Amino acid sequence: MRPITSSGPIASDVRLPGSKSITNRALVAAALAEGISRLVGPLRADDTEAMVDALQRLGVSVGWRDDDLEIEGASGRFPAGEAIIDARGSGTTARFLTAAATLASGTITIDGNSRLRRRPVGDLARALNLLGAAVEVAGHEDSFPVVVHGPALSGGAAILEAGRSSQFASAILLAAPCAETDTILELTGSIVSRPYIDQTIEVMRAFGATVEWEGPTTLAVAGGGYQAQTYQVEGDASAAVYPLVAATLCGGTVTVGPIGNDSVQADLALLPVLESMGADVERSDGRIELVGHPTRLAGVTVDLNDAPDAVLALAVAGMFAKGRTEITNVGNLRIKESDRIAALEAELGKLGADVEAGEDHLSVSGNNLRPASIDAHGDHRIAMALALAGLRIPGVEMAEPQVVAKTWPGFFEMLDDLQTPLVITIDGPGGVGKSTVSRLLAVRFGFGHLETGAMYRTATLAVLEAGLEPGDSGQVAALVEALDMDVTADSILLGSRDVIGLVRSDEVGAAVSEVSALPAVRRALVGWQRQWVAKHPEGAVVEGRDIGTIVFPDSPAKIYLTALPEIRATRRVKDMGLADEEIPRIAAELARRDHFDSTRKMSPLRPADDASLVDTSELTAMEVVDLVAQLVIRRGS
Ligand code: DC
Repeated sequence: MRPITSSGPIASDVRLPGSKSITNRALVAAALAEGISRLVGPLRADDTEAMVDALQRLGVSVGWRDDDLEIEGASGRFPAGEAIIDARGSGTTARFLTAAATLASGTITIDGNSRLRRRPVGDLARALNLLGAAVEVAGHEDSFPVVVHGPALSGGAAILEAGRSSQFASAILLAAPCAETDTILELTGSIVSRPYIDQTIEVMRAFGATVEWEGPTTLAVAGGGYQAQTYQVEGDASAAVYPLVAATLCGGTVTVGPIGNDSVQADLALLPVLESMGADVERSDGRIELVGHPTRLAGVTVDLNDAPDAVLALAVAGMFAKGRTEITNVGNLRIKESDRIAALEAELGKLGADVEAGEDHLSVSGNNLRPASIDAHGDHRIAMALALAGLRIPGVEMAEPQVVAKTWPGFFEMLDDLQTPLVITIDGPGGVGKSTVSRLLAVRFGFGHLETGAMYRTATLAVLEAGLEPGDSGQVAALVEALDMDVTADSILLGSRDVIGLVRSDEVGAAVSEVSALPAVRRALVGWQRQWVAKHPEGAVVEGRDIGTIVFPDSPAKIYLTALPEIRATRRVKDMGLADEEIPRIAAELARRDHFDSTRKMSPLRPADDASLVDTSELTAMEVVDLVAQLVIRRGS
């Protein structure tokens, strides 16, 4: 199980892994080209290693040179006579090479893991056979393994059913320049993920092939082969989606790249969707910058047929938005690395989201979200998308995190770099329940807990013990600045002495407001509070009077508790073990301190503009904790 740390606003510049789709397309083109090619900035992950190994089996000399790939092209005919290719779980490797293996000298078997053996290939085999190839589908239900008897790709005209996967069309296009004659490919059915076909065309052209859309469903490829190139692989837009959605959810700014401003990568279709949900997006100089505004996050209805990989992260964003998020026309998600619609339905449901899934659509909202142990369903994109939910819901953990290696081995390191610790600020007057609620919330979330009132009380105790006048700013400041104080869950150390039993005395209570109003005292203790939080990367609940306004003004999770004065006094009396007759005296004392704290010049007690107000008068401590936990997870949205 890998715990996911929840995050405050994001501040990061992410260097994306190379595009998987482009890397595997360019590898095939370079392997068929004449001459030695170099791919600069390719993806190094399971799916591209699968392609590299497979090309080696086909007799191509291809290998890593530092971070680049060098490929000695086979000039349109793979040397291998007999080979068995293990495409592992890589759909692009298996499909692209089903077509390209028709250009090998002998019989090539293409197989993969149990997941690949459930992914379709029959429509591709039938179209290739119309082009003179001899491809047998040997697996169950039109799936892998396939056996390809080469060399046999004459070209000519073929019809391809393109409603299940755009990879079929891409596979035929990639092999077609090396067929004996020109090829005309007619696509039938409603074409899924069309931008991926355009991506294929762009890579082919870069390697010197001639390929055109001749009509809305007709593609023409000229024979003539490929020429070797030095080719720069863009950053992966499918990967970019995760840091971009992270900033959409957590706020702050993220930049990702390199992705050219004229890039045709399909998942860039998510950018306008995130904008319509409330994020600000800008593209310049091959980078995408996103500024997130979590409190504005609004649900959307969107057809994502063109960008199916982006659906998963968008569904997670939908859990945290106001209103429902509806994603339509994405039926082919059911035949990806997992049945992604079913996987989202199950896992987002565990997190408390309300998910409605149909054969080809999904709709999500979240009202009562909660942490859960999440299953990645063996699917890298499910793992990466669900990790984003953990940025907002403290306590999420994931089984099988290693599946991200399929396309982004460094994903979790990127996520760690992206994050800032989440600081939950709990402010309010005395007796309102801050300490009880903060302590319980910190336990529930596994966060550190800092009671800043105890620090001001400890400083006051030290002032009184030293015999100083609380209002003597010069002497008090000098003493407090030099104090050696440490606050933990169950002790307050002043030097080596635990003073936890002394700081709640009436004498300290009577002087604390005056001491805590001194600017030098506040400066010293605020600095100390920020240092304390920096040592708690797991997250922190910090309670006091000015935590949301002054100490952590950038916190995205600000709570201000209130309660009726007589109720606060009654709670204080109980806390202190006093008799009920003391209620009026304690009420007067609280009122005096409230007035002092909220009218002082420096850091007066008041709610931050973006704080959520919670009246605890009628609620039990647990009810307040439940309410505050939801407010934190929802970030006021
Ligand atoms: O929460 P408490 O009653 O223990 O706080 C004691 C006093 O400390 C309170 O009257 C004002 C001061 N205080 C402050 O000025 N700023 C804080 N962040 C916390 C407490």
